[in-house]
Amino acid sequence: LVNQKEYLVNGELRRWDGPTSEVYSPVCIRSAEGLKRTLIGSYPIATEKEALEALEAAEQAFNHGRGEWPTMSVAERIACMEKFTARMIEKKQEVVSLLMWEIGKSQADSIKEFDRTVEYIYDTIDCLKDIDRASSRFKIEQGIIGQIRRSPLGVVLCMGPFNYPLNETYTTLIPAILMGNTILFKPPKHGSLLHYPMLEAFRDCFPKGVVNTIYGRGSSVVPALMESGRINVLTLIGSSRVANDLKKMHPKVNRLRAVLGLDAKNAAIVLKNADLDLTVKECILGTLSFNGQRCTAIKMIFVHRSIAPVFLERLSDAISKMKYGMPWEKGVNLTPLPEPNKPAYLTECIEDAKAHGASVVNEHGGAQAGSFFYPAVVYPVNRNMKLYREEQFGPIIPVIPFDDIEEPIDYIIESDHGQQVSIFGTNTDQIANLIDPLVNQVSRVNINAQCQRGPDVFPFTGRKDSAEGTLSVEDALRSFSIRTLVATKET
Ligand code: G3H
Repeated sequence: LVNQKEYLVNGELRRWDGPTSEVYSPVCIRSAEGLKRTLIGSYPIATEKEALEALEAAEQAFNHGRGEWPTMSVAERIACMEKFTARMIEKKQEVVSLLMWEIGKSQADSIKEFDRTVEYIYDTIDCLKDIDRASSRFKIEQGIIGQIRRSPLGVVLCMGPFNYPLNETYTTLIPAILMGNTILFKPPKHGSLLHYPMLEAFRDCFPKGVVNTIYGRGSSVVPALMESGRINVLTLIGSSRVANDLKKMHPKVNRLRAVLGLDAKNAAIVLKNADLDLTVKECILGTLSFNGQRCTAIKMIFVHRSIAPVFLERLSDAISKMKYGMPWEKGVNLTPLPEPNKPAYLTECIEDAKAHGASVVNEHGGAQAGSFFYPAVVYPVNRNMKLYREEQFGPIIPVIPFDDIEEPIDYIIESDHGQQVSIFGTNTDQIANLIDPLVNQVSRVNINAQCQRGPDVFPFTGRKDSAEGTLSVEDALRSFSIRTLVATKET
């Protein structure tokens, strides 16, 4: 059991004796009442008071850009980050194990999440060195000598998602810190405990007040922070509804920068000449990696009607070969779902689709046991169904047959989301003709490949309601800073 009794504020690990929230693992145990989620620990349920104290600490550490951290040289900031990363690596086993228990991610994927995060930190450090070298140069234009610097923005409120509680939290937290901002960071509800092992390292490696944690229910602690008007940057990987609500709370929203990764409903388009081995392999990865709980997951497949039967058969066959089991089992692909209400929601989507004329075409599709949900291929989906527009964020694969290529394109144009699309086909001219209309709708077009965020040096964003700002290694450093010019006249 990990019973967390401390939180980090103003360079101190403060003792918490107030109420706590119990953390249950999606890994179930058998009990007299049936399968039950396992209790694995607890974390502080702090209040508005502690959240505002953390804000005060972050604000003081920034001190209008005159604090120790924002005025420190880039080389010194990098040295602190390197020290932190070394300490973080020492905690790998603990963090990986908590990732598995808290969110049910397989051991292989949990290790990947940890290693990817460490690599991201080193890449970001390298990129910052390049940016810093470029900032120290002078430019002369029309008799003006200018030096363009990158300056921090102030206090950043970071909130990460449950599906990548370490990696996606850090892809905002790390660049924000490195650029000289000070941080309030609220771990997600599922995926909270795994941050605990790193709190001492944050305390020891950065000046006091640079990194502060906020624990507690989001609805009780975050509004006070936003309403204070003292948050300079809001960064959230989550739903667009929550992001909009939070932005509205800020009294001077025009002064708030938002860096947001939000909802998506990425489509795959399978053309009639697609290589089905490759397409099925990529669609399985795209729809079912981490049980479909990825914003980048393929959440709708359009398949040319002429190949729909064979595609569905191959897809169902591939699912039947997937291994489901506990996160620590070797070779496991499908694991328990961390959100307790998710199986009921997924079942509701399937029932709704059935009521509107679709069926589950794969054996055992939609079956449940404890927090497991067996992937369901639902066919033929139409616009009257929840699955047509709602982001299922779980192991359901909605499939729609199409006759005319305009049908999937219209779907993408009409969508409120605009993150990515995947096209599968072997006719390069046909694919080339599709790229232009699609790049004006989404922010990444994948050809014969699943939708995904990485490699992390590539820009990661979305159009419409899918994102605000851009993440990646370089883009994130830019997102958490502003270009300022120091200029003088040539004499
Ligand atoms: O959940 C959204 C993540 O950005 C997905 O990242 O494509 O690397 O799995 P990924």
